[in-house]
Amino acid sequence: MKVLIFPDAERADDHVAGLLCQEVAAKPSAVLGLATGGTMERVYARVVDRATAQGLSFRDVTSFNLDEYWRVPPHHPASYAFYMAERMFRPLDMDPGKCHLPDGLAPDPEDEAERYEAAIVAAGGLDLQLMGLGLNGHIGFNEPTSSFGSRTRIKTLAESTRTANRPYFDTSDAIPGFAITMGIQTILEARQCVLLATGSAKARAVAAMVEGPMAAICPASALQMHRCVTVVLDRAAASELALYDYYQSVHPDGAPARVP
Ligand code: GLP
Repeated sequence: MKVLIFPDAERADDHVAGLLCQEVAAKPSAVLGLATGGTMERVYARVVDRATAQGLSFRDVTSFNLDEYWRVPPHHPASYAFYMAERMFRPLDMDPGKCHLPDGLAPDPEDEAERYEAAIVAAGGLDLQLMGLGLNGHIGFNEPTSSFGSRTRIKTLAESTRTANRPYFDTSDAIPGFAITMGIQTILEARQCVLLATGSAKARAVAAMVEGPMAAICPASALQMHRCVTVVLDRAAASELALYDYYQSVHPDGAPARVP
């Protein structure tokens, strides 16, 4: 794992936005795995700014989101389809035919999961999977004890996840209890993974992911098995890492490693 610790969240967000733009500049038809959540809102705003400033086109990009709530329609402002359209797909003029999310209204979750996996394979697999980190160590909606061999499927959301997502719903809305999410194995098959976590609330999950034993109780710890993972943090999110000084010595404030 490459662990980059930036002095603040702004610089961490900016670094991740830069990685996404670099990927698309190098391969305009890149297949991106995208994520949602509050952390990514800031990243996508920066991607849009950078792409506009650099004249970088996302028109040929194909994207697959990690997850979608089950039975929340795409026009609902809390759905991930709505979130992505607002923050990435429309501002970057992405081709709607190439932007994929699991269909939370599909008649059958198992068929939908199979269809989604097949679509990722048909697109040639994920070049870069972007991820946030749940407070409980989830990636996508792979809640603790998700199998490391899991593929796209319907998952029951943890109570802490539902509580964390409550602010995105109206008080009159029922908070969804289920979501369709890429599996951990699906994520591990991406050619490159980038995980961003900022703020002290994530510090415990970050330490478990990077330094804890690889165990299903912290789904993100499965990333320890991936050969090309970049973990991007601010100092607060990195604060519980036992080897903090080591990571800083390799990449001071997120700078590239200097090999003599
Ligand atoms: C949701 C998403 C995850 C995301 C997590 C963290 O649960 N399904 O993919 O990583 O939120 O969100 P936030 O960035 O708001 O902390």
